[in-house]
Amino acid sequence: MKDYGFNTRAIHGGSDGKNPDNALNPPIFQTSTFVFDDIDHVERVMSFESDDYVYTRGNNPTLRLFENRMAELEYGKGAVAFSSGMAAISSVLFSLLKPGDNVIVHRTLYGSSYTLTTQLLPKYGVEYKVVDLTDLEELNESIDSNTRVIYFESPSNPDLSIIDIREVARIARERNIKVVVDNTFASPCFQNPLKLGADVVVHSATKYICGHGDVVGGVAIAQDTDYIDSLKFEYMCEFGGVMSPFDAWLLLRGLKTLGIRMEQHESNAMAVAEYLRGNPRVQKVNYPGIEDFKGYDIAKEQMDGFGAIISFEVEGGLESATRLVEGLELIKLAVSLGDCETLIEVPAAMTHRGYPADQLERFGFSESMVRISVGIEDMDDIIADLDQSFRRIY
Ligand SMILES: Cc1ncc(COP(=O)(O)O)c(C=O)c1O
Repeated sequence: MKDYGFNTRAIHGGSDGKNPDNALNPPIFQTSTFVFDDIDHVERVMSFESDDYVYTRGNNPTLRLFENRMAELEYGKGAVAFSSGMAAISSVLFSLLKPGDNVIVHRTLYGSSYTLTTQLLPKYGVEYKVVDLTDLEELNESIDSNTRVIYFESPSNPDLSIIDIREVARIARERNIKVVVDNTFASPCFQNPLKLGADVVVHSATKYICGHGDVVGGVAIAQDTDYIDSLKFEYMCEFGGVMSPFDAWLLLRGLKTLGIRMEQHESNAMAVAEYLRGNPRVQKVNYPGIEDFKGYDIAKEQMDGFGAIISFEVEGGLESATRLVEGLELIKLAVSLGDCETLIEVPAAMTHRGYPADQLERFGFSESMVRISVGIEDMDDIIADLDQSFRRIY
């Protein structure tokens, strides 16, 4: 596609603009299988001479459109859609690692990604090293001759660590190590890790890409088309974590408004972060858009916006955090993020239960940390709800 801006690509990208019966929107190809003309046709398709369709667990026109659009938005050459973010992450890690290898991960990761790397991969002979990737010296020291992958989120879940993607990719390239970045928090609207040197980008499409809390999906994008083919036909296809055509269609619809949603999410989040910083009961606020936040300078350099996830600590520890989240009227107590609705949670008790409860400090968070995914409601209403709940506690 021409050098169009983000919103134009989010609406038109990856499409030739031609839909059956001149429909504005693409149809949902809600079909499991596809019909061949004859055995010659079978032969051409099965030998990849033709890219016609066989079976939806291999490909489907609605999925292909979603994949092409995501590849454009992330500056990749190909993408693979999955049934969830975790299906994308696990397939990518299994595709790049083998027994005897090790993977370096940042010390804060989404809880299931932490469990995958620290509990499941070791069962298959893959070792892991948990490192603070904001410290490049620590990264350099932890690399050994069996390190094959560096995997992280930036901003990370739940403490919003900002990792210098360009620098990590530079270090990795010198040692022939693949860099995989989970870009869920930033979305392709605010950050493009492939442009910064990463090899593979993964998303929980369940979050901002969907935006409406009604799909569970994932996607992986890369510039290496041979790698994308292998990920699709050897891993997605054989592990079977395929996205449904209806979900791909809903995600295509969600993508159309991603840019304007992210703008509103971010301006609301800035205001919420300022409110929290001005609240004498709040002890620490993690948000990349705050100038004295540790990762601010790198975030400003590598991101086009700071996103809308904030985590914070309240005076009074777990008891106050519990009362805060239970006293809200508009904001919902729920896992997940990136929806229109503002969602709040306590990571140690919810999304990050897989982390050892007695060692949370070591990983950069605490049992009383609260994480908020700022939605796109009216900013004054979000802040008023937080404020009334704070008043009830203290
Ligand atoms: C950063 C991040 N990555 C991956 C996932 C997993 O995505 P899914 O729930 O779509 O499998 C999540 C879920 O919350 C997440 O926050």
